[in-house]
Amino acid sequence: MSRAVVTGAASGIGRATALLLLERGAQVVAADRDEAGLAAPADAGAETVVCDVADRADRARLLDAAGAACDHLVNSAGIIRLAALEAVTEADWDHTMAVNAKALFFLCQAFAPRLQPGGAIVNVASGAAKTGSTHEAAVYCASKAAALSVTRSFAHAYAGRGVRVNAVCPGLIDTPMNDVVVDGIAPLRSLTPGEYGHARLTAVPLARLGDAREVAEVIAFLLSDASSYMTGQSVNVTGGMITY
Ligand code: NAI
Repeated sequence: MSRAVVTGAASGIGRATALLLLERGAQVVAADRDEAGLAAPADAGAETVVCDVADRADRARLLDAAGAACDHLVNSAGIIRLAALEAVTEADWDHTMAVNAKALFFLCQAFAPRLQPGGAIVNVASGAAKTGSTHEAAVYCASKAAALSVTRSFAHAYAGRGVRVNAVCPGLIDTPMNDVVVDGIAPLRSLTPGEYGHARLTAVPLARLGDAREVAEVIAFLLSDASSYMTGQSVNVTGGMITY
């Protein structure tokens, strides 16, 4: 039986991933700073760790909870702050980078040497890492580009140990974060949330939001031996919105 640590497991893509891995028979350590949100994976059989991935001592606790025989790490914890480029503060930069890039790097650093040969890491980046087109989320886009670069570095470094490291790049996925984006950007573009939500869907060939479960399926594939010849990749899950 495989053993996986999933961060951001209280909500959205992380939660869907934790639940899918449990369904498929894995042991799951579900980690998040939102204790109440961890009830769903706990009810489905996950061990839970309430932690802030941006905190070094909390990351060490998570590594301990994972134990010696861990196979998989999924870095899904993430945050977004929305502001016009001219209004971004240094605190916005520091906090976003601390969670989306720094914590992801140091979790890879902590877990990669400890994963069983044949193990795998999946980092949840974003289509925004490739396009940078949502300029009200410029710091987020930069943090996700960093996540892709970190993915490639660890993929190269750990290939010889038989540990694969890949990223997924979700597009517009129906989670609480998507609501934060629509509600936050609409007023900055003098639109209603309904108008903005509709406008951004026109860029999606499949013409709908994705479901968190559809991203979880790709994450599960990248963790599994079915993707044994893939490492260092950034796999789009965007309904066709991004094709490179
Ligand atoms: P979400 O907001 O539903 O879930 C994010 C989870 O991360 C929450 O449970 C939150 O408590 C947790 N989290 C945030 N900061 C944390 C910290 N410092 N320590 C521990 N836990 C923390 O968002 P969603 O959509 O599930 O996002 C998951 C990942 O997917 C994120 O990395 C996000 O950037 C990425 N993503 C999401 C997209 C979308 O359209 N929903 C699109 C592209 C990427």
